[in-house]
Amino acid sequence: MRQDAGTRLETALTEIAEAIDVQFDRLLPVPEDQRARLYEAMRYSAIGGGKRLRPLLVKASCDLFNIGWESAVRAGLAVECIHVYSLIHDDLPAMDNDDMRRGKPTAHRAFDEATAILAGDCLHDLAFAVLADERTHADATVRCELIASLAQASGPAGMAGGQMMDLVAETTPFDLPAITRLQLLKTGALIVFCLEAGAIFARIPEDRRTSLRGYAHDVGLAFQIADDLLDIEGDAAVTGKAVGKDAAAGKATFASLMGVEKARQQASLLVAQAKDHLRDFGEEADLLRDIADFAISRSY
Ligand code: IPE
Ligand code: IPE
Ligand code: MG
Ligand code: MG
Ligand code: MG
Repeated sequence: MRQDAGTRLETALTEIAEAIDVQFDRLLPVPEDQRARLYEAMRYSAIGGGKRLRPLLVKASCDLFNIGWESAVRAGLAVECIHVYSLIHDDLPAMDNDDMRRGKPTAHRAFDEATAILAGDCLHDLAFAVLADERTHADATVRCELIASLAQASGPAGMAGGQMMDLVAETTPFDLPAITRLQLLKTGALIVFCLEAGAIFARIPEDRRTSLRGYAHDVGLAFQIADDLLDIEGDAAVTGKAVGKDAAAGKATFASLMGVEKARQQASLLVAQAKDHLRDFGEEADLLRDIADFAISRSY
């Protein structure tokens, strides 16, 4: 029986969320010594929250090439580790100074700043430990490529670099090209990794990854525009985090530069473009198509 797009996406999101929770639970047993608080902070931030959109993107890119479930979940877990670390640090007083994340107090509120910093650091480390493990893939070359690709996506040429630009954007005028670059690094780079993961597992050569990268580029931008729109129009009870923070911080976003309506149109255009990049794929890419729509239709 064919599932409609909504049900298919919901089922896939639920399945991957459960798998990610199981993995975090297994990897992070709380030791009976002085490090217990650190493990508890990692578990608090990593388990039972978030859309798990990045692991789902990894799973969807793996579906294109018939990659097994365990490989897909482990690569998805790795990118979720980086994502959760980035959220813990993003919420710190030195960055966005937020009190709520995923519907509960932020890590530094529930624990303390030092513990939150360490929990973020350790989730970052865990990402690479997961990829380096043989259970991710039998071939060490594939594992190395995953590690190199995630390192690139997380560091100064990726997410962390985008976070730096985001801080600068609070005090310096940014035009549209500069905002686009910021968003591509801050949010887009990890999403590009998610799409690359399937291709790396399948040993697809670099020059045949253009359409996957194009999709990731467009979905990444659209996803961040939706995040910025939710900050303006969203409901904190639904998003699970404070709203109105970007304007209060004087942060330039697509929405502040183009206006809400134009930003929404731009996001739709990007989603259509993203799906167009998948034109050579058949129904094995349906999940990716659903995710592209969800990136902007979401209310959380
Ligand atoms: C929030 O990401 C931060 C951005 C990069 C926009 P998500 O909206 O994916 O957050 P969770 O994982 O669902 O909490
Ligand atoms: C954060 O962007 C992106 C990261 C790399 C963590 P935001 O600061 O807009 O994310 P939210 O709105 O706090 O989730
Ligand atoms: Mg931020
Ligand atoms: Mg923030
Ligand atoms: Mg935001």
